[in-house]
Amino acid sequence: MEFSIKNGNSEKQRTACVIVGVYETRKLSEAAAAIDHASDGYLVGIMRRGDMDGKIGTSLLLHNVPGTLCDRVLLVGLGRERDFNERAYRRVVAASIKPLETRGAMDVATFLAELPVKKRDIGWKVEQMIEVAQDAAYRFAHPLCKKADEPHGIEKLIINVPMRNDLRKCDNALRRGLAIAAGVQFTKDLGNLPGNICTPTYLAEQAVELGKQHNFSVEVLEKSDMEKLEMGSLLSVARGSRQPPKLIVMRYSGGAATRKPLALVGKGITFDSGGISIKPAADMDEMKYDMCGAASVLGTFKAVAQMGLPINLIGIIPTCENLPDGNASKPGDIVTSMSGQTIEILNTDAEGRLILCDALTYTESFNPEVVVDIATLTGACVIALGHHASGLFSNSEHLSKELQHAGEETCDRVWPMPMWDDYQESLKSNFADMANVGGRAAGSVTAACFLSRFTKKFDWAHLDIAGTAWKSGKEKGATGRPVPLLTRFLMNRSGLN
Ligand code: BES
Ligand code: MN
Ligand code: ZN
Repeated sequence: MEFSIKNGNSEKQRTACVIVGVYETRKLSEAAAAIDHASDGYLVGIMRRGDMDGKIGTSLLLHNVPGTLCDRVLLVGLGRERDFNERAYRRVVAASIKPLETRGAMDVATFLAELPVKKRDIGWKVEQMIEVAQDAAYRFAHPLCKKADEPHGIEKLIINVPMRNDLRKCDNALRRGLAIAAGVQFTKDLGNLPGNICTPTYLAEQAVELGKQHNFSVEVLEKSDMEKLEMGSLLSVARGSRQPPKLIVMRYSGGAATRKPLALVGKGITFDSGGISIKPAADMDEMKYDMCGAASVLGTFKAVAQMGLPINLIGIIPTCENLPDGNASKPGDIVTSMSGQTIEILNTDAEGRLILCDALTYTESFNPEVVVDIATLTGACVIALGHHASGLFSNSEHLSKELQHAGEETCDRVWPMPMWDDYQESLKSNFADMANVGGRAAGSVTAACFLSRFTKKFDWAHLDIAGTAWKSGKEKGATGRPVPLLTRFLMNRSGLN
């Protein structure tokens, strides 16, 4: 989909379709009122007859509306005017894209960005419009999986804004929205690929390719390098797989050389069978998504590099498969992490923390200002927060607040969880410095507590995205979260507004 910004009148558009909103209780938006006026009350007539009641999420496609120059008018329900907030705006934008997706490719003028949204300016609305529209139009396609269909739906979306002093702001918002949408799409594509295509080697190749495209450096550490670094914990997870593990190291330098880098660390288990502590068969296919943390780091790099943010950023991705095998780790095995701390592997399915702990220790060598890790770490986090918010754990109050704020701004929300010392006790082992699991209670908290033992030297936050990285059921697919949150966090850090 292509996007442009204009300042036009709804009744004078010559496009294949014009999108305007109507509130519940028959109140027309300004753009709808202009069409209603030009058509001698055509829209009000439709609402009076009850064909469109303005309920949020509904829509009605009209042809040849009198007094207009476009082929179609799509009326979208906005709900109650006083409830029209950020989430309503996003919902309405998505509902305006969906009904057009089965039609032939067309150019469309939308007037939804003119609607007042509490707390948010035109820049926010333009950026969100692009992200939500691209999200709604996304289709997974790959020559070895599902082939791409004919071009369909909206080809060009013309976003109408009430101009005046807004032009520059909107241009910036357009560029940023496109960059974030591109990052989200990349993350979704990687997430949706099956484990037999998206292997650790494939992820590493994708990182190298991305670095070439966007001019940042990528280094891939091999098994032998990890052995030299004594990453006994990371290596223990890869033992059961024929696929070699990789440690991807990305460096984007957009800021002054004297500035300390920020670091993102993403869990890259390209398939999690559970290992010897094998998972039940039902829905195990979804464990191809266990590399979504890694994919979100790659997507965020894409967005950041495309925007050219003035920051220094490090991306670290430990990636391997977790499979059962004669050579796989067994419950009770004890390994030595790069930090020197020993770990008793009581459950081989708690593998994410085992690869992350060594990646986090390795991150120390970059002397980072802050480190954020992103991982589909625990089923328990899905039980705690469901699919709406990612779990947030941090050793820094300030960093925690920054991430919460970025989540609110992007509607890609996180919710803070405790990491009190009391929880650390459950990781006690009689045989090693710690166990890799702490029992069923507070599973997402004890997982974070495990990681906290490897992050003493920097400000750190952990995002558990087990509930937010993908959707199950009929709409099964990666969401691209938390790329919007991470990118916004980095934009805020870079001093951009
Ligand atoms: N990748 C899973 C977490 C997961 C499970 C995410 C289901 C989303 C849906 C992780 O590696 C895992 O298996 N965690 C275990 C930890 C347990 C053994 C302490 C879990 O959550 O059951
Ligand atoms: Mn697991
Ligand atoms: Zn896992």
